[in-house]
Amino acid sequence: MNYCRISGLGYYLPEKVLTNQDLEKMVDTSDEWIRQRTGIELRHIAGEDELPSDMALKASLQALEQSQIKPEDLDFILVATLYPDQLMPNTACELQRKLGISNVPSLDISAACSGFVYGLSIASQYIQSGTYKNILVVGTETLHHITNYEDRTTCILFGDGAGAFVVSQTDDPQKGCVYHQELQAYGDLGELLFISSPGAKQAAKKDFNTGKQDTYIHMDGQKVFRKAVQIMCDAYEKALKDTGRTPDQIDWLVPHQANERILKKFCKSTSFPEEKVIFDIKETGNTSSASIPLSMARAVEQGKIKRGQDILMVAMGGGMTSGSILLRY
Ligand code: ACO
Repeated sequence: MNYCRISGLGYYLPEKVLTNQDLEKMVDTSDEWIRQRTGIELRHIAGEDELPSDMALKASLQALEQSQIKPEDLDFILVATLYPDQLMPNTACELQRKLGISNVPSLDISAACSGFVYGLSIASQYIQSGTYKNILVVGTETLHHITNYEDRTTCILFGDGAGAFVVSQTDDPQKGCVYHQELQAYGDLGELLFISSPGAKQAAKKDFNTGKQDTYIHMDGQKVFRKAVQIMCDAYEKALKDTGRTPDQIDWLVPHQANERILKKFCKSTSFPEEKVIFDIKETGNTSSASIPLSMARAVEQGKIKRGQDILMVAMGGGMTSGSILLRY
């Protein structure tokens, strides 16, 4: 049997930070309001010339070093991003070029904040089927480009960053494996969270006149909040049911860091202990597809998550999309 294990993790956060105090000077808000409503104190902002592929490269090199796998040993590169370097070539091809390798299939995944879990799910299928031995999966975002810093309901939330996993084949499930995974999408909820430009829908409009507004993230915050909690609870219950596990058999929940309040509401609804949830939004903000690999890599670095522990990852995002993976680290 082939099992899929995480052989290396990496992350990158840009140097520049945007604090709640900085935002107080930009929009009508307060540090207290932001902390109470979201749990965020600061977020990182990419440098002027820093592209998603540049940040992906930094996170990937760390993950490769940890896994002791050379870039030329990679069989597949998957990059989840909401806002790629450009429409073509894709960011995964750009990353491949920057890694100094060639001749490796490379694909971008567009599933908003669930993109990384979609990528990890695809990667694990290729590993378990025996097709590939080593796959790089990355989430990378420069959300500041698509954030409206005049809209206090969204600009408080988002930050930039990247996280990367190298996943590798093993025949020993004790070294790591994926027990369960499930992807989902609810296209009927698309209007809750969207960016309308660039895209053919916008370009096809007769009165085509792309304003800056169309390039920003639009969000119905309260509805997203309710749906996000419901999706997390459903994914959690399903993972337990399908694997016959009890909550005490999950060591850590690594959720998409959308908002601290969403995570606390999830804990209240399911009675899952908050002490076993990785809360990592305080110093990163919501980094969309980067948030799960970023928070997992940081939790491992901080010594919270250890080898041999069972981790449940749950993501939800625009689309709306969602995904969950239960794995042994
Ligand atoms: N500072 C001060 N006041 C604010 C701010 C702000 N930054 N933003 C909104 N307000 C005001 C509103 O205008 C409103 O004022 P009013 O009562 O005078 O009309 C009041 O605060 C309450 O607004 P609500 O929208 O009800 O605030 P809520 O408690 O719902 O919090 C928030 C807003 C934080 C956006 C919340 O809805 C939320 O977290 N939603 C989830 C969104 C999310 O996580 N998105 C991430 C992207 S999607 C994803 O990753 C899955």
